[in-house]
Amino acid sequence: MASFPRIRPRRLRSIKYLRDLVSETYLDTSKLILPVFVNESIEKPIETPGLEGHLTYPPNSNYLVNYINEAMELGIHSFLIFGIPKTKNEDGIRAYAPDGPVQVAIKNIRREIGWDPIIFTDLCICEYTTHGHCGIPISNKRGTTIDNDSTLKVYQKIAISQAQAGSDFISPSGMMDGQVKAIREALDETGFNDVGIMAYSAKYASSMYGPFREAVDSAPRFGNRKSYQMDPRNAKEALKEVRLDIEEGADIIMVKPAILYLDVIQLVKQHYPEIPLAAYNVSGEYAMIRSAIKNGLLDEVQPIVESLISIKRAGADIIITYFALDVAKIIKSRKEIF
Ligand code: PBG
Ligand code: ZN
Repeated sequence: MASFPRIRPRRLRSIKYLRDLVSETYLDTSKLILPVFVNESIEKPIETPGLEGHLTYPPNSNYLVNYINEAMELGIHSFLIFGIPKTKNEDGIRAYAPDGPVQVAIKNIRREIGWDPIIFTDLCICEYTTHGHCGIPISNKRGTTIDNDSTLKVYQKIAISQAQAGSDFISPSGMMDGQVKAIREALDETGFNDVGIMAYSAKYASSMYGPFREAVDSAPRFGNRKSYQMDPRNAKEALKEVRLDIEEGADIIMVKPAILYLDVIQLVKQHYPEIPLAAYNVSGEYAMIRSAIKNGLLDEVQPIVESLISIKRAGADIIITYFALDVAKIIKSRKEIF
C-alpha cells in the first residue's frame, strides 16, 4: 500500500473544464496583431506570394476595408501594415510619400472605419529600395556597407509621414542603432507625442524571413543583413538591444522571430517584466506549419494553437502572427483543443 502515490498530478488533468481551470496560459484575440500587405500596383486583391492563405490588398480599396472589418468582427483589432511600392529607388522615397501605399491604406481605413483599429506601421526601406537593404548603402574601405546615421534621417521622414496618415504605432524594423531615439524625437518635434513606438528590438538575421521577402519583394540584392540584424548565436546581447530601446523611448519591445527564439523571449521578459513584449511569429515559422498541414502531416488546429501558446508560455504579451485569423476562427468555433 505504502508504495502507491499520494500526490497525483493526473487528478487535475481528468476532465476538460478542470484542465481549463488550472491552465496557466491562454490565447486571446485581443493579444494578436495581424500583418497586412498593401501594394500600390494592384487593383484587386492578389494571393500573397509565399504566404499561403493571405491576400495582398490595393491600399485605397474597399477590399482592404472589408478585410479589416471582417477581422475586427472576429476579435482582431490590431494590424501591422506593410507597403509594396510601384517604383523603387536608392533611398526608398515611396516609404515617406504622402500618397505612398502605407499612407493611402491608413487614410482609407481611418476614413471608412475610424479610429477603432489599432494601426501599427512597419517602418523600413527594404521594400522600397532597389538594393533591398533596410538602410542606405555607402562604400567604405572594405566595400559596401549600410550607413547608420543617414538612414536614421530617412526613418525620421517615414515616421512623420506615417503619423500624419494616422498610424498609432511606428514599428521600426531596420535594426539601425539609435532608431527609436531618432523616431521619438521626430514624432515629438512634429506634435505626434500620442503616437507610440513598437520597436523591433531583438531582431535576428534569421533564415525565417524567406516567404516575407517574396511577399514584399525585399530580399537584399547584394550581401546580407548580418551587419545590422542580430547574430542567431546570441541571447544575452538581446538584453542590450532591448535596454537601449527602452532608454530611447520604446513603448513596446519585440523579439523576432518567435518560435526559434523562445529562450530570448523568456530572458527579455524576466529582465523587463514591466514593458509590453511582442513576439513576431515570422513568415518562415508560419510556412513550416502551414505546409505540413497542407501535406496532411499535421492536424489543422492544435499545431497552430500549440505553437502560439509556446510563445505566450515563454513570456510574450503580444504575438504578431499570420495565424491571427485562424486563431480567431478556432476560438469562435469553441473546438476542444487541450
Ligand atoms: C523588413 C521586415 C522583415 C520582416 C518584417 N519587417 C524582413 C527582413 O528583415 O528581411 C520579416 C517578417 C516575416 O518574415 O514575417 N525589415
Ligand atoms: Zn527592412
